[in-house]
Amino acid sequence: MSDRIKKAVFPVAGLGTRFLPATKANPKEMLPIVDKPLIQYAVEEAVSAGATELVFITGRNKRSIPDHFDRMPELEYELEERGKEDMLEQVRNIVPKGVTCIYIRQMEPLGLGHAVLCARPVVGNEPFSVILADDLIDGFGSSCLQQMVKQYDEHASSVVAVQQVDPAETDKYGIVRVTEVAERTSRVEQIVEKPAPADAPSSLAVVGRYILTPRIFDLLETTGRGAGGEIQLTDAIAALLKEEQVLAWEFVGKRYDCGSKLGYLEATVEYALKHEELKADFCNYLRDLAEGDVCRPHD
Ligand code: UTP
Repeated sequence: MSDRIKKAVFPVAGLGTRFLPATKANPKEMLPIVDKPLIQYAVEEAVSAGATELVFITGRNKRSIPDHFDRMPELEYELEERGKEDMLEQVRNIVPKGVTCIYIRQMEPLGLGHAVLCARPVVGNEPFSVILADDLIDGFGSSCLQQMVKQYDEHASSVVAVQQVDPAETDKYGIVRVTEVAERTSRVEQIVEKPAPADAPSSLAVVGRYILTPRIFDLLETTGRGAGGEIQLTDAIAALLKEEQVLAWEFVGKRYDCGSKLGYLEATVEYALKHEELKADFCNYLRDLAEGDVCRPHD
């Protein structure tokens, strides 16, 4: 595992408009998939890939995120008193020993690029990872970030995670044009934020995992507002690839867009079907539901 990528940045200051009203007072990153909030899956992925400093870029209404990663002595005391050792372990070890959480406030939601730039004082002159918690990725044994760190270790260049998407949906993603280097690895030649399907250079989309060299910070400083009036990380990456190699890694695994209602529901169902405690009962429930008439769309 890389001993160089120790810092993981979690931009969690977005408004989550696609999930209103659930995200009016609560961050979308705290939405649970079965029994864990999205942000905890993201943190577990970063830690699995060797991160020891977790940098959260927070905004308004995000106080429950630091609370979630904090100790809670009253709850721990109660669980101890009641002999609930398993639960006690779970709440105590949400952040493993040796891992530090750092919180930086993004004063205005000026976009993902701006959120990443807010991490500069903590990240400094080191390569780092960025994880968007609403993209939940099941890496089938090796997390997406672990796979990317391996690429970084081999090539010592920035790496973005990519996947093929429906060509009609390119306007929801950063889209890349690439030259293949090896199986699943290619060099990014061009990157465009949310192109219309007719203008898209391909249907290979960047998803919410990045490993970036610190040069990105200088470029973000001079990146103006782009698509949607926001400072786009994609635009800074477009500038970066004129100076340095940027690789695209077609990850092994399945991604759920939990910032959308449908993606969130898919993740909930599929993670419940894998959950030790629930899978048998939940599977029976789904079978009964599908056999009945409940699944027919109602008028
Ligand atoms: P999204 O494009 O998903 O925007 O942001 P959003 O506001 O979170 O959600 P919708 O589209 O309105 O429903 C991509 C990532 O960048 C973060 C978000 O938290 C998300 O992880 N972000 C976005 C910030 O941290 N700050 C911003 O100003 C904008």
